[in-house]
Amino acid sequence: MTIRSVRGVHDILPAEASVWQRLERVARRVFEAYGYREIRLPMFERTELFARAIGEVTDIVQKEMYTFEDRSGESLTLRPEITASLLRAYIEHGMHVQPKPVRLYAFGPVFRHERPQAGRYRQFHQIDAEALGDDHPAVDAEVIAMLVEFFRQLGLADRLALEINSLGDAACRPGFRERLAAYLRQHAAELCEECRERTERNPLRVLDCKRAECRPVLDRAPSLPDHLCAACAENFGRVRAHLDAMGIRYSINPRLVRGLDYYVRTAFEVTTTELGAQNALAGGGRYDGLIALLGGTQDAATGFAIGMERVVLLLAGEAQPVRPAALVIPIGERALERLLPIVRDVRARGVGIDVGYGDRKLRAELQRANKLGVEHTVIVGDAELDREEAIIREMKSGQQRTVPLAALAADLVALGGQA
Ligand code: HAM
Repeated sequence: MTIRSVRGVHDILPAEASVWQRLERVARRVFEAYGYREIRLPMFERTELFARAIGEVTDIVQKEMYTFEDRSGESLTLRPEITASLLRAYIEHGMHVQPKPVRLYAFGPVFRHERPQAGRYRQFHQIDAEALGDDHPAVDAEVIAMLVEFFRQLGLADRLALEINSLGDAACRPGFRERLAAYLRQHAAELCEECRERTERNPLRVLDCKRAECRPVLDRAPSLPDHLCAACAENFGRVRAHLDAMGIRYSINPRLVRGLDYYVRTAFEVTTTELGAQNALAGGGRYDGLIALLGGTQDAATGFAIGMERVVLLLAGEAQPVRPAALVIPIGERALERLLPIVRDVRARGVGIDVGYGDRKLRAELQRANKLGVEHTVIVGDAELDREEAIIREMKSGQQRTVPLAALAADLVALGGQA
């Protein structure tokens, strides 16, 4: 029996790698222009970190964490998100003394034991960005602008929507929660079982239910933006004014709530209609108070995470096969010895070259060239060696020309430039 990968966990194969690399390249370019610096974080932490940060009554903490005891009996958890780890590092390394906001980003795998389906995995990858230590509404707008710019540079702007909401704060949210829970209890009979259960545990999450049977009740439910206190309403207005001033298009989704408990005020998601139920490509918001909750300073903070798999799904078909500029075919040991140093030199200049090892028939090597998709081959046998020459063959037309071996490196570099 062969051993297969774990359910919900996938390999990223070489054919897709160029799309993944492009996401990372674009993210780095955009984020660095906004002043963000990369931080690399561990993939597992003490369980308590996530339980405290994400919230004990969330699905993530109650049902989805990969928690295990290590050999010294300590409870550890594979990170179900990056934000908590990043804050732990911010606190641990005293980064609050740096000029604020402290802007950080991180990439990498994230683990949640969810039911796998298209666009939903148990190991997936996030690009995470956080701005720490400044509560100005312009920071929220700037973070959103950066996220929008990331998608614009990927050419996805027209296929996505930006939704925003304000979740209120400690002054207004508890009152809203009570009012919402009372309304939901009144209509319990018209709600699905999960919604009824959530009404008691985490009523805001009920707003997020996507089942058709619950829609009529939820459509008439009390709305968050209508219940904000004056300070939150003013804050939300200022975030929107900054977005408007930057010409960023959004819609206000009063039912947008997030699956993590730490948010206050601004919350947002970038969504698509192209991926079925898994419609969120990125999500985030403000989470003032979380740094203090984790034992740090009273620093405000805001940020987001992008789900890389979902972005890759939208870009499917854009994968660029990576091809060498040429396949160099020595015929025999003597030619191999003469060609390897030249190949080494060309590769050192950053040009991709594949090479045969002199032990296959020319016909077999030409077939290999076709399979590799290379446009040119270089053929050198004993006769060419004696004349200090190489044959360059254009694969599509079959046309061949002869060049001096002394000039071969330069010719190959030029071919690399065309590719
Ligand atoms: P989140 O909404 O839980 O937020 O996850 C962010 C993104 O990760 C989602 O929008 C989605 O694209 C992707 N994602 C989530 N679960 C899965 C899954 N099972 N399979 C594939 N992709 C998935 C957070 O994680 C927050 N830490 C974001 C944040 C940062 N808020 C403030 N700062």
